[in-house]
Amino acid sequence: MSVVPISRSYAPDALETRVHVRGWVLRSRSSGGILFLLLRDRTGALQVTAKRDVVGEEAFRAAEHVQVEGVVEVEGTVYADHRASRGRELRAESIRVLAAGEPFPLWSEQTEEFRLDHRHLTVRTQELVAMVRLKATLLRALREFLDREEVLETTPPILSGNAAEGGTEAFTLDYFGRPGYLGQTAQLYLEALLAPHERVYSLTTSFRAEKSRTPRHLTEYLHLEVELAWCDLDGLMEFIERMLLDVLHELARRSPEELRQLGREPAELAELAGPFPRLGYADSLERLKAKQFDVHWGTDIGTAEERALTLEERAPIFLTRFPKEIKAFYMLETPTDPRTVEAVDVLAPEGYGEIIGGSCRETDLERLTHRLTASGVNVEEYAWYLDLRRYGSVPHAGFGLGVERLLRWITRSEHIRDTTPFPRTPARLTP
Ligand code: 4AD
Ligand code: MG
Repeated sequence: MSVVPISRSYAPDALETRVHVRGWVLRSRSSGGILFLLLRDRTGALQVTAKRDVVGEEAFRAAEHVQVEGVVEVEGTVYADHRASRGRELRAESIRVLAAGEPFPLWSEQTEEFRLDHRHLTVRTQELVAMVRLKATLLRALREFLDREEVLETTPPILSGNAAEGGTEAFTLDYFGRPGYLGQTAQLYLEALLAPHERVYSLTTSFRAEKSRTPRHLTEYLHLEVELAWCDLDGLMEFIERMLLDVLHELARRSPEELRQLGREPAELAELAGPFPRLGYADSLERLKAKQFDVHWGTDIGTAEERALTLEERAPIFLTRFPKEIKAFYMLETPTDPRTVEAVDVLAPEGYGEIIGGSCRETDLERLTHRLTASGVNVEEYAWYLDLRRYGSVPHAGFGLGVERLLRWITRSEHIRDTTPFPRTPARLTP
């Protein structure tokens, strides 16, 4: 008899038929010659009962000694049972231990630190199982959206000889005797790929050597970056809004159980609608002053400010047109106001803050060179990037989305590390 997924035993026509399943033991208890196992595979969990006089003394004794997370295979018949959590149980006719296992070291009362040290095992717990699945659905929904929008997936490098978003937050490495960097953004490469393809994206790992221990910073995160030719700031916001609404609605539709398990009612996502509020930097200062923040023109909008701006919001907001000095060298100056750049941050509501950073890019060679020099970096290193402005430069804009930042808001996670199986933070490099 071939092995079937556990979910098969819940099919209407599975009642009183024989099935062969295998999986990991979630719970086990025996009394008076009957063994009760809760068995899990990737498709679900099923109650199994095994009687000593049916499966035989030797098999029964072996099964009795299986630890939590040990592995067994069972052949038996599916019955209705109102005492089982999902109304079905499998009565074993034969049971075989595939891996008895040692006592499983994780249980729920342990400290967060202990659970992080055992992350290779914690990934089996319900929350992380749901999170990993939700993330997969999110990535699929993002890719499907971008496909429909005719944005081409491309593969920029991670290793490079210059630090695009500023040297201080780049991990450096010894590249055969020369300095090398781990990528913080694929943006500059996407801009190069823009000329032949016009609409490009990449989904790659970005690295930030930020020592700050905050609940929203990882040193390694998944970065979705999109670059669009012939796009201005309004076009960029319109694109981002459509993308976010599309994937949030898809998550509500495809992953309602995972969402509920992680603390988000799917309807809250399904009901989200545009247009998202748009707030200029200058207006955000007024709002912050009204909330007793000591801010002035040029103040960076940090975690506390973002929290204050979004605590009461239910949908993401666009924060636009920041002062030039607090943003990156490649951002386009606002045509009507030389003090600001055509930049947009998307802030997640409910206090979560920045999930996307984007802008229109400076296309003029002279202005770009000037801004690059003023930013204090070694202009030589950016020679290839400046070339892009020499040969067929067109108006364009793009953005980067932090996938774990988005998930943190969606799942109302306290810490961003809860959104990824093996988080990397200043304090954690293993497992
Ligand atoms: O705002 P950032 O630094 O923008 C860029 O890197 C642009 N070059 C992107 C582009 O236009 N192609 O980063 C983009 C996003 C942030 O909004 C945030 O969501 C995420 O990346 N991010 C982080 N996520 C987790 N941990 C960190 N340390 C992050 N730093 C940025
Ligand atoms: Mg940013």
